[in-house]
Amino acid sequence: MILVTGATGKVGSEAVRLLAAQHAPVRALVRDPSRAPRGGNGGTVEVVTGDFDRPATLDAAMRDVDTVLLVSPAVPAQEIAVIDSAVRHGVRHIVKVTSKASADSPVDRRRGQAQIEAHLQACGVAHTLLRSNAYLQNLLALAPMISRSQGFLMSAGDGRVGMIDARDVAATAAVIAAAPGEHAGRTHWLTGPDLVTYTDVAHELSAALGHPVEYRRTTPDRHRAAMVQAGVPEAVATSNAQAFGLIADGDAAWLTSDVETITGQRPRDLRSFLADHVAAFQ
Ligand SMILES: NC(=O)c1ccc[n+]([C@@H]2O[C@H](COP(=O)([O-])OP(=O)(O)OC[C@H]3O[C@@H](n4cnc5c(N)ncnc54)[C@H](OP(=O)(O)O)[C@@H]3O)[C@@H](O)[C@H]2O)c1
Repeated sequence: MILVTGATGKVGSEAVRLLAAQHAPVRALVRDPSRAPRGGNGGTVEVVTGDFDRPATLDAAMRDVDTVLLVSPAVPAQEIAVIDSAVRHGVRHIVKVTSKASADSPVDRRRGQAQIEAHLQACGVAHTLLRSNAYLQNLLALAPMISRSQGFLMSAGDGRVGMIDARDVAATAAVIAAAPGEHAGRTHWLTGPDLVTYTDVAHELSAALGHPVEYRRTTPDRHRAAMVQAGVPEAVATSNAQAFGLIADGDAAWLTSDVETITGQRPRDLRSFLADHVAAFQ
């Protein structure tokens, strides 16, 4: 049995659908069962209600589980609780979705990921890390501003990003979760097919929407203030602004072929992502 956490989220929901469609035994951990993903292609999904903050619910979800696909907002105490529950129940492999984690990163969520990874390493269970570049789905956060003002504020300068569609992270995770053996102890670096800048994003959005979309450049400090004013929690705005500043300095300008090597499919690019989500920007 494969347990997928964060199964109503971007990566988890798609991974559940893909696993069910290939008739793999899959259990979706959700807080709200009415929002649980369904299996396509006649596949079934077992749904279990649980909460990272309630360890007893995690223990109940781990029954007969061999492999955990660990996706969450990456709050260290919560993921550590899932890992500890998996250890208690003899889970054999954990596939962890992560980012460019580092214990000395200026970005607090990357330090948090490093703390979780260290715990995973120490717990002794075989595991695989999926270290992704920025998700194309982050662009959806710009949609309200674009539909209101035909442009977006951004502090990433001319930094290039190997943006990846979260559905391709899910597809890669599903392949590994279904047959994890050869991936034990490995870290895969997941990216889309191209390095794109926010100038490219504005250009592609303009083409997709049929009107000009302006990239309004700002500094990370001003961007942080604008995000807070728009209602983004201060800690999230701080991390976002730090991450965009790093992008401007080249931190996200990396590409790999790991998605295609593992899934056999070329990952989706910016244009196909926008084609699938154009309505959100209108
Ligand atoms: N965004 C990026 O650019 C990027 C890049 C690289 C790596 N990552 C990594 O991707 C991961 C996030 O994946 P995602 O974007 O697929 O997540 P997401 O869409 O934000 O979904 C989060 C999931 O976690 C669930 N959840 C939240 N709190 C919970 C709780 N207390 N108990 C049980 N479930 C809970 C949510 O359930 P509800 O629906 O009930 O809220 C939802 O299913 C993180 O590890 C992040 O570091 C992101």
